[in-house]
Amino acid sequence: MIWAQAHANLALVKYWGKAAVAGNQAANASLSVTLDGLTSVAGVGRRPGGAGDRVAWNPPAPTAGLVDFVARARDTLEIRDPVDVVVTSNFPVGAGLASSASAYAALSWALAAASGRSPAASELAPLARIGSGSACRSLLGGFVEWQPEGRTAVSQIAPPDHWPLSVVVAVVREEPKRTSSREGMARTRASSPFYRAWLEAGPEDLREVREAVLACDLARLGPVLERNALRMHATALGADPPLLYWEPATIAVVRTVWSLREKGVEAFFSIDAGPQVKVLCEPAAADAVASALSAVEGVSRVLRSAPGGAPSVLHRPPSWAVLPEEHRVRPSSD
Ligand code: PMV
Repeated sequence: MIWAQAHANLALVKYWGKAAVAGNQAANASLSVTLDGLTSVAGVGRRPGGAGDRVAWNPPAPTAGLVDFVARARDTLEIRDPVDVVVTSNFPVGAGLASSASAYAALSWALAAASGRSPAASELAPLARIGSGSACRSLLGGFVEWQPEGRTAVSQIAPPDHWPLSVVVAVVREEPKRTSSREGMARTRASSPFYRAWLEAGPEDLREVREAVLACDLARLGPVLERNALRMHATALGADPPLLYWEPATIAVVRTVWSLREKGVEAFFSIDAGPQVKVLCEPAAADAVASALSAVEGVSRVLRSAPGGAPSVLHRPPSWAVLPEEHRVRPSSD
């Protein structure tokens, strides 16, 4: 089995809306930070002469999308043998924490390695995007821009150590979200009267966030980060029927972040297509932020992260990866 890991990413400027559903072509440019410690691991084993692909999420989840993805990937990467695939993550999946981004980035990486290739991230991006649009950004570490115009490309605008930000995640609901981002985007595009305005405002947010990231300027990044996330949710709220991804604790965390700022703690939030709140701050403020978020009623746990690296091939799955029996690797005797 070949194992690869990839990290989730947090969009500082969100991708919300598709120019084309086939291949998950984004309608707007986005910019993310890859998140160290929020990690997915994928294992791929070729089975020469096998009857068909065998795929599994761990813990178990419906595999229809995974089956289709593996079939497309084998075609693209010219893997003739059927494969065994297992994908697992060390954080809540399907809950708005970008687990599909890390999962499909890890799987694309592992499948590429199993095919004997080592494509550049921008070459692998169209494949990873088929699993989840935002997965293409997890193919690179640090601060990553996805520019969908023309030849869809992802590029690193700064490496992870460019800015040692802290990202504190308040988890308010562990269960999978009620509406997938795929469905949410389609509904928003089809029915939200605010969708056009969302797309029009995007380039300005991107320009400001890119400049703030390059300057490591949190006071400049923060207001645009919050504005961009809230506008994405406002656009989704305008869909018919409406999309409300938040829980009461989501709003309580937002208010906590605002009151931290009033007390002089520089912290800013973002929210993806789910109820969890991700808070950016300088490392010196991370303990204060984490303890304030932990105290909010409805917060089940707080995760801490920082800018992380690109996917990599692993010699063996990490110890946290609880794998089905047939994929377990025995501890080596050396
Ligand atoms: O790539 P998807 O289908 O998981 O959608 C991602 C949507 C957001 O997380 C809300 C925004 C983003 O750019 O990651």
